[in-house]
Amino acid sequence: MKDFKNKNCFLTGAASGIGRSFALALAKEGMNLYISDINMERLANVKKEIEKIGAKVIAVKCDVSKYEDFQNAADDFHSKLGDMDLLINNAGIAIGGGIEELELEDWKEVLDVNLWSIIYSLKVFLPRMLEKKSGHVVNVASSAGLMGTSEPLPYVTSKFAVVGLSEALYGQLYNRGIRVSVVVPSYIKTNIFLDSKVKFSKKLLEDYSREKLEQIYSELVEEMTIKSKSPNRAVRKYIQMIKDENLYVFEAASAIAILASKTEPRKYEEFLVKFNKNFANTRKERFLKYGINLDDYS
Ligand SMILES: NC(=O)c1ccc[n+]([C@@H]2O[C@H](COP(=O)([O-])OP(=O)(O)OC[C@H]3O[C@@H](n4cnc5c(N)ncnc54)[C@H](O)[C@@H]3O)[C@@H](O)[C@H]2O)c1
Repeated sequence: MKDFKNKNCFLTGAASGIGRSFALALAKEGMNLYISDINMERLANVKKEIEKIGAKVIAVKCDVSKYEDFQNAADDFHSKLGDMDLLINNAGIAIGGGIEELELEDWKEVLDVNLWSIIYSLKVFLPRMLEKKSGHVVNVASSAGLMGTSEPLPYVTSKFAVVGLSEALYGQLYNRGIRVSVVVPSYIKTNIFLDSKVKFSKKLLEDYSREKLEQIYSELVEEMTIKSKSPNRAVRKYIQMIKDENLYVFEAASAIAILASKTEPRKYEEFLVKFNKNFANTRKERFLKYGINLDDYS
């Protein structure tokens, strides 16, 4: 699909970051937008911005971790706009912390929002797209879905699954008229890092307040994401690659280069260990600045 004018788009996580940038850029292309999120205050602002552009927009609450929300949104979408042209599964969350600190509920929360949401979305929207033999599914994963960065673990797990699902669907749906893309952003300046929860060990929490630890962690995240790109710029690239019907959609070629590096497995293993060590050292130094030696807590 080269021309988005008057075509219909459903978008999750549209209230902020990459989702908001997608919504505004697609509105400028003349698309009819059905935007959703759980943060209704931010979503209302995005709706206003789209109205100013002059595109048709419907904004609804859809908690992507709930199948019933997708069922309701799909019924409403089809009755108000008709057929689906572009389905963008974008909403995502992360929970930081090491394997010992993460509870089962943390894994479940992240997998529900980042992975099950896409399964729900496909379940409610795909049958009609298949009947019509047209449409484009775009799943927003991450470069953390190509390379096992050491943290955040549930996030990495969910994003690898989204990449796998997208690759499998790309082949399965190609001859049935449906295109599939997977977006693999690297570091983009959005709210995801600020809004993410982080888990600490019981021992650390006995000695320091959660507020203090969260403050240090957010400084660490800020340090690591200092070179983040603007979501608007990234999304301009994504849209062109979606129009070109690429499976992999990215703003930084380095994200994709990781795939090639896996052809040398021993080197790749070394790289993973080194990457993890660098991350651990950066974290250690940041906590040391506040007099906290993480070695005493491992
Ligand atoms: N920012 C980055 O560097 C980066 C890197 C790789 C991948 N991504 C991916 O990009 C996507 C968008 O994230 P972003 O960076 O724009 O973050 P963001 O936090 O700015 O936006 C995410 C949006 O998802 C919404 N959301 C969260 N839980 C939800 C739920 N249960 N139901 C519906 N909406 C929900 C939030 O309210 C928010 O509006 C995510 O899938 C994320 O994993 C981002």
